[in-house]
Amino acid sequence: VGLGPGDAALRTPAATAAVRHADAVVGYGPYVDLVDDLLTARQAVVRSPIGAETERCREALRRAAAGETVALVCSGDPGVYAMASLVCELAAGFGDPPVTVVPGVTAALAAAAVLGAPLGHDHAAVSLSDLLTPWPLIEQRLQAVADGDFTVSLYNPRSKRRTGQLDRALAILAGRRPPGTPAAIVTDAGRPGQRVIRTTLADLDPEAVDMLSLVVIGSTTTRWLGDRMVTPRGYRSP
Ligand SMILES: C[S@@+](CC[C@H](N)C(=O)[O-])C[C@H]1O[C@@H](n2cnc3c(N)ncnc32)[C@H](O)[C@@H]1O
Repeated sequence: VGLGPGDAALRTPAATAAVRHADAVVGYGPYVDLVDDLLTARQAVVRSPIGAETERCREALRRAAAGETVALVCSGDPGVYAMASLVCELAAGFGDPPVTVVPGVTAALAAAAVLGAPLGHDHAAVSLSDLLTPWPLIEQRLQAVADGDFTVSLYNPRSKRRTGQLDRALAILAGRRPPGTPAAIVTDAGRPGQRVIRTTLADLDPEAVDMLSLVVIGSTTTRWLGDRMVTPRGYRSP
């Protein structure tokens, strides 16, 4: 179940219903906290630690196989750098209990709405986390994004330990688009304490980015219109 970025107003009614009707709610602790307002005493609540993703999915599937209705919750959308794919991969090993993927507002869409309309034309998402994906493959995809002139949303851009990947990503994009290309950092989009930095590709400060940030780099047609980042769809000439 995708809970959206955090604000209850950005949670879909389908996600709310799925959590309310579940016998068990399973998720990474801070994501379970996002639905604190929906939980009841009759529900089993399993808050799992970060890094325990496979065990979290197995726990959800074990319970589903035993006949429970389970809401495995995550932030944003469950199919975007989250648990839906792993659940689908593991389900057969648990007797194939029925699986429903309940979509949510992913970070790229929440951040785009905060910024204006940066995804108005073709766009891409790339995760800079090389924990599960080899870095050379990530670089290859960034180069393809640069060559294709896509607006790009960079997920998992930087953590305390992974600091070099964002610099490298920005250098690859700078090889194919001007230094003044609109760029932005949106941290905690749709959550209390949301922070937005509006800048350019050349001036983006990686130090201002952490794991709760999404970095958006425009294409060569993206413009700042006041404080709005806009990629024209092409209806009118500027
Ligand atoms: C493992 S991914 C999970 C993505 C999530 N399933 C989604 O659809 O948004 C975690 C990354 O998503 C981005 N992210 C998730 N929620 C965010 C938010 N509210 N504001 C900014 N970035 C967010 C950050 O880049 C973070 O490092």
